[in-house]
Amino acid sequence: MPSKVVICGAGFIGLRIAHAISQANSFVKPLRHIQISSRSPEKLDTSLHRDLPSAHVLPLVPLDITKPEMLDPAFHGANVVVSLVGVLTGSPKTFEEIQWQGAENVARAARRAGAKLVHMSALGANKDSKIPYERTKALGEDAAFRHCPDATVIRPSLVFGPGDGFFGRFAQLSKFLPFLPVFGDGSTRFQPVFVDDLARLVELVSRDDAEIRRELSGRIVYAGGPDIFTFRDIMKMVLKYTGRTRPIIHVPWAIGNVQGAMLEKLPPSVLTLTRDQVKQLKHDNTVPSPLPPGELSLADLLRKHFQDKPTSAHRILPKYLA
Ligand SMILES: NC(=O)c1ccc[n+]([C@@H]2O[C@H](COP(=O)([O-])OP(=O)(O)OC[C@H]3O[C@@H](n4cnc5c(N)ncnc54)[C@H](OP(=O)(O)O)[C@@H]3O)[C@@H](O)[C@H]2O)c1
Repeated sequence: MPSKVVICGAGFIGLRIAHAISQANSFVKPLRHIQISSRSPEKLDTSLHRDLPSAHVLPLVPLDITKPEMLDPAFHGANVVVSLVGVLTGSPKTFEEIQWQGAENVARAARRAGAKLVHMSALGANKDSKIPYERTKALGEDAAFRHCPDATVIRPSLVFGPGDGFFGRFAQLSKFLPFLPVFGDGSTRFQPVFVDDLARLVELVSRDDAEIRRELSGRIVYAGGPDIFTFRDIMKMVLKYTGRTRPIIHVPWAIGNVQGAMLEKLPPSVLTLTRDQVKQLKHDNTVPSPLPPGELSLADLLRKHFQDKPTSAHRILPKYLA
């Protein structure tokens, strides 16, 4: 009897997870049906979605996680719910409605459905933060564990891969800006993780395998790549792999803040920047070392279950930035 994985939030990471599960279906039993849910299924007519084998994919379900009445029908019969919904911009209320209360709605409905919850959070999640993104990510994690104590929470650093919103965005900016900006002295550190490594992790957590479920139950998995880069290193990589030559200009934090104040008022675009994003860029975004007691890392799980290691950005960026 096939099991059913609901992918809640079919954006950049969600569709790669659907592919990882579908590819693993040839060697992981029982077969897992993939149910993709989206606020706007009509927008999902992408090649990534079309390329999924139809035998593995159930019809799309419309779902807004801020509307609890939509969740039970969407999760009916689910063995696993992957909670991926997140936002990068919006008012503090929007962050609360989506990343906190929305995540809580998902966790409650996953429990009612009797499904294992996999919840995508982020490095930097912090209940004491004044930045709504970071605070609501932490409150979303709490809600996930409160309603589903056996949930697995994943905290990735920046995620890279075709279609990503960071490397891809600066590559686009480098097309028309005469320079690339870094805020402050550009020394903030990141540990970018490849989207397909993250997708393999979620595929693993989604398996109907009692031992894996036990290992990952109630745990936070920190997901970073093999290399730590500064903001300035990242801009250099973007220029190297797009083949462009541009000066890298240091923008003082105060000027970044003024830019954020202006740009956050404009409709979303490649130039979108908010004051909170500028503040976030002040903090390192790397996997803690040592890990908090009892928590896990993507690197350890890839080694143990796939005899592999996280993929370097240097291997992948040239394939899609060039
Ligand atoms: N990408 C990264 O570098 C990164 C790093 C750390 C953590 N994360 C976390 O990973 C998760 C997935 O990220 P992503 O990069 O794949 O983001 P994404 O491409 O923006 O996908 C997020 C999805 O959430 C959906 N969504 C937004 N509000 C919703 C609502 N009220 N109800 C239902 N769906 C809603 C969006 O659907 P619509 O198309 O309907 O708007 C979108 O498909 C997020 O939680 C994010 O915070 C990402």
